[in-house]
Amino acid sequence: MIVLGIETSCDETSVAIIEQKKTNDFGHVLAENTLSQIKKHSKFGGIVPELASREHENTLNLLTKKTIKEAKINLKKIDAFAATTGPGLLGGLLIGSNYAKTLSLVNNKPFISVNHLQGHILVSRMKKKINFPFLSLLLSGGHTQLLVAKDYNKYEIIGETLDDALGEAFDKTAKSLDYGYPGGPIIEKLASEEKSSNFFKLPKPLINSKNLDFSFSGLKTSIRRITEKPLNKSLKSKLANEFQECVTDILLTKSEKAIKMIKKKMKLNTFVLAGGVASNKFIREKFSSLCNKYSIEFFVPEKKLCVDNAIMIAWAGIERLNKYKKSDSFDKHPKPRWSLENL
Ligand code: KG4
Ligand code: ZN
Repeated sequence: MIVLGIETSCDETSVAIIEQKKTNDFGHVLAENTLSQIKKHSKFGGIVPELASREHENTLNLLTKKTIKEAKINLKKIDAFAATTGPGLLGGLLIGSNYAKTLSLVNNKPFISVNHLQGHILVSRMKKKINFPFLSLLLSGGHTQLLVAKDYNKYEIIGETLDDALGEAFDKTAKSLDYGYPGGPIIEKLASEEKSSNFFKLPKPLINSKNLDFSFSGLKTSIRRITEKPLNKSLKSKLANEFQECVTDILLTKSEKAIKMIKKKMKLNTFVLAGGVASNKFIREKFSSLCNKYSIEFFVPEKKLCVDNAIMIAWAGIERLNKYKKSDSFDKHPKPRWSLENL
C-alpha cells in the first residue's frame, strides 16, 4: 500500500509518500518534503494565520509534484490520499484537506482524514513494533497530554495542561529573553551553555497535586518578571537551563505517577514520547532513565519525526486504511479543535 500524506495544520507545508509492503509491516518513506515558514513569521514573533494559509496555498501543489517525482512513482500507484483535518489553524487545514480530497476524487482513491495528534503518536509504530496499549506523553506547541493509547483510534487522556502547552512555554520563554521563534531549540542550546542550580527559584506549579494535570502559565509569569530587568548572556543561559530543568522535573514527576497508576491496572510495556518538544535531548535522556527505573521500554521517534511532518500523517493514514478499509466521507470537514478522545 502506498499513501500520500499532507500536513498543513500550522506553519509547515509538508508532503510525504510512504509504502507498506504488507499489512503489519513497517513503513518505508519513498519521498518527503517539508517547507518551513518560520522565516516569514519570525518577524511577527509568532504565527500569523492568514500568512500561513497563503504560504500553504502557494507551495502545496509544487511540493506535491516534487515529492511524487522524487518517489519515482506514477500518481496512479498511490492507493490513498491522507491529510490533517485537525486540530490546527482552519485556513491551513482547509487547503490541505481540500487538496487531498481533490486528488482522491480525480484518481478515484480513498481520502483519509487524519488527526494531527494521532499522527504524532502513531509515527512511533512506523519503524518499531509497539503494541497497544502503551502510555504516551504528547508535548507539542498546542498540546501537553498524558494518555493511554488503547488502539490506533482509541485514546484515554489521563492528564493534560490546564493552560499553556509546554511548547508554548518554551516559545514564550525565548521571547521574554529576546530570542526568536520557535523557542524550543533556542532554549535547549542556551541551556547547554551554562549550568545553574535554583538561582532564580522558579515555581513548579501543580507538581505535588494528586492528579496528572499540568500548568505552565505561572512559570511564564515568573519568567516575564525576571526578564523585566535586562539579563546578560550568562544569566540568560542560567535561566534557560533552570527553565528546562524545572519543566522536565514536572513532566517526570507526573509521568512517574502515571506509570505507577497504570501499572496497577494493566501490564505496561512501553512509554512513547511524542511531539515537537520531544526532540529536546535533555528531556529525551531523562525519560529514558525514568523508563529504565520501571523496566518499561522507552521510545521516542528521531527528532525529524517529532516536529511537524507529513510522514506521520501518511503513516497514520496507512494505519487507518488497514483497519477502517474505506474512504472517509468528503463531509469530514476540518476541525480546528479535535480531541483524541473523539476520533
Ligand atoms: O509538534 P510541533 O512541531 O507542532 C505542533 O503540533 O504544535 O511542536 C512545536 C513546538 C514548538 O513550541 C517548539 O518550540 C517546540 O515544539 N520544540 C522544542 C524543541 N524543538 C521544537 N521544544 C524544546 N526543545 C526542542 N529542541
Ligand atoms: Zn504537531
